[in-house]
Amino acid sequence: MRILTVEDLVSGYRDVDILKGLSLHIEEGEIVAIIGPNGAGKSTLMKTVFGLIRPRSGRIVFRDRDIAGLKPDRIVRLGMGYVPQRDNVFPSLTVLENLEMGAFIIEDRRELERSLQRVYELLPVLERRSRERARNLSGGEQQMLAIGRAMMLEPALLLLDEPSAGLAPALVDSVFDRIREISSGGTAVAIVEQNARKALAMADRGYVLDMGRTRFEGRGEELLDNEEVKRLYLGG
Ligand SMILES: Nc1ncnc2c1ncn2[C@@H]1O[C@H](COP(=O)(O)OP(=O)(O)OP(=O)(O)O)[C@@H](O)[C@H]1O
Ligand SMILES: [Mg+2]
Repeated sequence: MRILTVEDLVSGYRDVDILKGLSLHIEEGEIVAIIGPNGAGKSTLMKTVFGLIRPRSGRIVFRDRDIAGLKPDRIVRLGMGYVPQRDNVFPSLTVLENLEMGAFIIEDRRELERSLQRVYELLPVLERRSRERARNLSGGEQQMLAIGRAMMLEPALLLLDEPSAGLAPALVDSVFDRIREISSGGTAVAIVEQNARKALAMADRGYVLDMGRTRFEGRGEELLDNEEVKRLYLGG
């Protein structure tokens, strides 16, 4: 079953088109890696799908519903989570407060507790650090918090924009382990990554974006083996 279909998406900033007719799709439960050079439009894609940028044209269908033009709070309620590339935690709030912000639509206290326990099980470091202000967490812990916040509402699709950026290799692996676990819990994951080889190795499928369009698509291992992809996008 398709969970997300993006068709001929055109989107950008003011009078500049960044996405120039981009198409991709994600099946339920899949991990899809989105790679491509700096400025390709990867973050613009995620922001547009999540409703932070209004597309100029094209279709965005999430769970059988056209969401193009909807605002992020509506899209969250439909079951999508998003972890931005930058500024993805509230630094002056505690870990617990950040997680509660992620659950802003839950009014029932017991339901909120259940969500917290689920996220603490997935990311135990957050329970240990729950009273700490987010700004005092390490880079890796902040990334876990950003992911945990997006997981509070148990999204059917999670968009991750460079979750491993700036992390030491060992931490990159542990973030990727958490993403695998999120996926095995039934959440589909779309992940934008600079660590392109690792992301493709983990992913069911991948897309290579360049200049606002899909240049290549295929199974993760297919893209890893593709000579052109290797030469142009994976550093030989
Ligand atoms: N708020 C903005 N206003 C105007 N132009 C922007 C804005 N944000 C991004 N851009 C431009 O849009 C293009 C695509 O940016 P985007 O952030 O989507 O790329 P990206 O693929 O995520 O790159 P990176 O790998 O560096 O994160 C770039 O040329 C960028 O300069
Ligand atoms: Mg980006």
